[in-house]
Order: sequence, then structure tokens, then C-alpha cells
Amino acid sequence: MQAVSPISSRFDRRPRIRRQRLAGRWRERLRLPDGRELILRPIEPADASALQHGFGLLTPEEIRMRFLHPMKAMPESMARRLANPDPKREFALVAAEPLPPGQALIGAVVRASIDASGEGAEFAILVARLLARQGLGRLLMQRLLHWARAKRLRRVYGDVLEENQAMLALARSLGFQLRHPPCEPGLIRVELELGPARARS
Ligand SMILES: CC(C)(COP(=O)(O)OP(=O)(O)OC[C@H]1O[C@@H](n2cnc3c(N)ncnc32)[C@H](O)[C@@H]1OP(=O)(O)O)[C@@H](O)C(=O)NCCC(=O)NCCS
Repeated sequence: MQAVSPISSRFDRRPRIRRQRLAGRWRERLRLPDGRELILRPIEPADASALQHGFGLLTPEEIRMRFLHPMKAMPESMARRLANPDPKREFALVAAEPLPPGQALIGAVVRASIDASGEGAEFAILVARLLARQGLGRLLMQRLLHWARAKRLRRVYGDVLEENQAMLALARSLGFQLRHPPCEPGLIRVELELGPARARS
């Protein structure tokens, strides 16, 4: 009789995020592999207080990975600015509790800002550790790249601490090139040259 190979060796059986499109641009209902339900949506001004509150729940390590330097708190002015992206130049999505903005806790944020050249955008991303390793970081980066392609940008890039293996692995798996910028010890610039726009998956 022919040996039967375990299913896991023939197919990728890892649980994936289940997604349902909602009315409105960039809006989706997500069910994570751990069963948590989140709404993926553009950030809104009312999210400023949740950003500030969420910052208080981050570890010093998460703060350093995201902001590249230690910070004790997020000033209100910064939270307000981050929750009010300029629609012409900036993009920011959150994965939040399925509650109205202002009440919903925010579990993950991806953002990008078109630079002075007008041809590239710098990104930043944060997925709270409670939600990590379930595919949310990859999904947020894919949505960001879709936005960048729709804006006909030529590149997307970000600066990552060289010990940030999680972000470097994620960037590499999305096709980003990694290089050490001159005069920036400890940082790696990850950069993706964008091809022509494709349909969103
Ligand atoms: C980096 C980060 C966004 C990843 O988010 P995530 O939701 O955990 O990522 P995903 O579950 O989508 O994983 C995508 C890939 O990232 C890599 N990855 C994620 N976490 C990893 C870890 N702890 N170690 C190694 N690789 C990791 C893997 O390649 C993974 O693919 P795989 O699951 O097929 O192996 C998250 O860890 C984070 O927010 N870190 C703190 C802030 C930060 O570092 N921001 C980046 C600077 S802007």
C-alpha cells in the first residue's frame, strides 16, 4: 500500500485570517486564527484617545521597534496628528475592536506618508504583541502596498532596527530589499520598488 504523507506536509494548513469586505473603502471584518474579531478600517480623528491609551500598553521594546527610540508617553498633540492623516499624502489603517471609533481599542496600525520627492512613501507599522504572529502584519503591509500602487508611487520604504528580526523577515518575504544606510548605524532601510498596480486579494 502506498504510504500516506501527513496532510501538513502537502498543504499549508496554517490557520489564516478570515476576511469579509464591508461597505466603505478599506473596510473589512477580520477573524483572526485565535478567534478574535477586528475591523480593519481607515483611522479616524476619534481614534486619537485610543492611540494614546494603546501606547501606554506597549512594552519599551515595542516602542523602540516602532519609533526607533524610547518614548515614555504619546503626547496628545501627536495622537491627534496621527489620527488625522492628510488624505492627499498619508494613509493609515487600524485593526480595531468592532466598536465605534472613540470606544474601540486599537490593536494594530499601519501608516505611510508620501515624501518630498512625491515618488516614494515611508511606512511604519505596529501590531500589538497580543495579536502578533497571526498574519495581521502581513495583511496590513499588503493593504499599504495596494494604496501605494494606486497612488502610482515608485517605492515604499522604512527604517528598521537591525535587531528587529520580525520586521526584517516580514519585509523580506514581501520582496523588500534591505540595506544599511550610510551614517545610520543600527538601522536597516527596507525598500520595495513597486511594479504596476494589481487587483487587491
Ligand atoms: C513586525 C510586526 C509588524 C509583525 O507583525 P505580525 O502580525 O506578528 O506579523 P505576521 O503574523 O503577519 O507575520 C508575517 C511574517 O513576519 C515574520 N515574523 C513575524 N514575527 C516574527 C518573529 N517574532 N520572528 C521572526 N519572524 C517573524 C515572519 O516572516 C512572518 O511570516 P510567517 O508567519 O509566514 O513565518 C510586529 O511584530 C510588530 O508590530 N513589531 C513591533 C513594531 C515594529 O517592529 N514595527 C516595524 C518598524 S516600522
